Amino acid sequence: MRTEYVTITEDRPDEKAIRRAGRILKEGGLVAFPTETVYGLGGDALNPSSSRKIYEAKGRPSDNPLIVHVCRLEDIPPIISREPRGWRELAEAFWPGPLTMIFPKSEIVPKETTGGLDTVAIRFPSHKVAMALIDAAGGYIAAPSANRSGRPSPTMAKFCREDLDGLIDMIIDGGQVGIGLESTIIDLTSDEPTILRPGYITQEMLEKVLEHVEVDTAILSDDSKTPPKAPGMKYRHYAPKGDLSIVEGDQEGVVSYINSQLSALREKGVRTGVICTDETAPLYAADTVKSAGKRSDEEGIARELFRILREFDDEGTEVMFSESFSGSGVGMAIMNRLMKAAGQKIIRL
Ligand code: TXA
Ligand code: MG
Repeated sequence: MRTEYVTITEDRPDEKAIRRAGRILKEGGLVAFPTETVYGLGGDALNPSSSRKIYEAKGRPSDNPLIVHVCRLEDIPPIISREPRGWRELAEAFWPGPLTMIFPKSEIVPKETTGGLDTVAIRFPSHKVAMALIDAAGGYIAAPSANRSGRPSPTMAKFCREDLDGLIDMIIDGGQVGIGLESTIIDLTSDEPTILRPGYITQEMLEKVLEHVEVDTAILSDDSKTPPKAPGMKYRHYAPKGDLSIVEGDQEGVVSYINSQLSALREKGVRTGVICTDETAPLYAADTVKSAGKRSDEEGIARELFRILREFDDEGTEVMFSESFSGSGVGMAIMNRLMKAAGQKIIRL
């Protein structure tokens, strides 16, 4: 299949191209598109054959459910079977935006889209190109992140091309995304509202709207035997081809530990890399040192993380060390993705 490329940015929406992309989706094809979190790989959410194609293009296990993207609150009642407590308040506070809520699904949502579950994940993104595309496609786009299964989610269209060129009908280039980590997922179908995947919308922000919000304990645990509640969170993910470990401790200790490991590896001719922040970048002696930005700017770090993981692959880095980040606020999402990328390997000094 030949993949068509178009550029549509938020400030220069090309309506003709959006209509063409919408038609591809309505006819059962696949289009990668920008959202405010990461690029999504879209298909018609109500068409079982589109969802099957998404799994195939991604090489993703079909028990891993997709998120249904909408662009109007009125489009939600037809796809849910019951209104869980709290959803309207959350929608009011955070939609459009990087929050996904889990609802009991109605009959019209095919099991192919929900990975066989009776629940459906719904998100109302704030990216203008995404909203226009959802509308043009008929209101419901199923979209996982637009990467091959296991790779970091794409934060730029060139990463969608790397993973999906020739496998899907169209890729819309909307520039670099603003957030860089996937949406926060909150389950409203359990007894207590529970965060299944941390993201830009933090527990603190959610608790300003709902009194109490639980966090799935598997999210930050380094015990890979505790199964997470979101099916997709159990898979090895984001993993670079080389071997990544996270090092946690005070700054001086971390720098000196990593440098001692690096010098031993260099003697053996191993290609090394470090993920760190501006404060410590000049202190490391690795083949490639990548700063994700200022340590105090966690939003900036979130935006760069997946790009950095992909670059290490391109550069053939064999062993990598990453500094660790705070486990709260957006830091919880950063640590969750890093821990997965590292296969839960964390060295606590
Ligand atoms: O920011 C995002 O959410 C991006 C953009 C494209 O919108 N999408 C995204 O989709 O990250 P994906 O497929 O890569 O991740 C979806 C996650 C998986 O971990 C999946 O298991 C979980 O959502 N999920 C989907 N439906 C679910 C359900 N009914 N119950 C529990 N978890 C669900
Ligand atoms: Mg994904």
